[in-house]
Amino acid sequence: MQKKNMGYSVAIDGPAGAGKSTIAKQIAKKMNFIYVDTGAMYRAMALFLIRNNVAADEKDKIEEICKEAKITIEYRDGEQVVLLDGENVNGLIRTEKVGNMASASSVNGEVRKKLVALQQELAKSAEVIMDGRDIGTCVLPGANVKVYLTADPKVRAKRRFDELTAKGEVCDIDKIEADIIERDYRDMNREISPLKQAEDAILVDTSYMTIEEVVETIMGLIKKNKEA
Ligand code: DC
Repeated sequence: MQKKNMGYSVAIDGPAGAGKSTIAKQIAKKMNFIYVDTGAMYRAMALFLIRNNVAADEKDKIEEICKEAKITIEYRDGEQVVLLDGENVNGLIRTEKVGNMASASSVNGEVRKKLVALQQELAKSAEVIMDGRDIGTCVLPGANVKVYLTADPKVRAKRRFDELTAKGEVCDIDKIEADIIERDYRDMNREISPLKQAEDAILVDTSYMTIEEVVETIMGLIKKNKEA
C-alpha cells in the first residue's frame, strides 16, 4: 500500500529508552529504508538554545530565537548526521543535559512547527522509518505502519544507565529513572502533540523482549502491510 505524494513510511513512537532508535536503525538496514531520528533534531535545537544561554522556561525567548537555528540533515554512509549551522553535532547531543532541555523546549509550538516541516520534507521523497513522539499522530498521520514502542520505566533507566556507562559517563541510576519519569510526564502531558499511542498504532512492550524479537515483530508487521 503506497500513499500519494509520499514514500512508504513506518512511524515508531514511544517514550525515552524504549529502544526506538536501536530497533529503527536495524529495520532501516534490513529494509533499505532511510532512518529519520526526530529526537536528534529536538536535541540539536536544545543545544542551540543552551549555546545561546536560553533557559528551558523562557518561552518567549525560545519562540523568537528558535527561528534562527539552522538545522539540516544529511546522510553519510547510511548514518543520519544532524548539522547545526553546518556543524556536525551528532557527538554533542546525547547527554542528559541536552536530552532534558530537548524535552523542555519541545513543548514550544514554534520549535515543533519548524522541525515537523523538516521531518515531513524528508518523508516526501524516500521510504522512511521515522521515530519520535508524535510521528503517527501528527508528522505522518498516513504512515503505512505505526508502532507504539514502550517499556517499564525501571527497564528503560537500566538501559540508559548501561549506555552512558559504556560511553564512560559517570551516572546515577535512580537519578536517570527520576528523569525518565519526569520526561515521560512532560512528553505525555504537553499541550501540543503530546506523546500518545495513535489509534491505529500497534503497541509493542519491549520490557522483556530481546532486540531481535522486537525487530522480528515489527518486520512482520511491515511485510504483512506490504503484501496487503
Ligand atoms: O528521543 P529523544 O530522547 O532523543 O528525544 C529528546 C526529546 O525530544 C524528548 O524528550 C521529546 C522531544 N521529542 C519530541 O517532542 N518529538 C519528537 N518527535 C521527538 C523528540
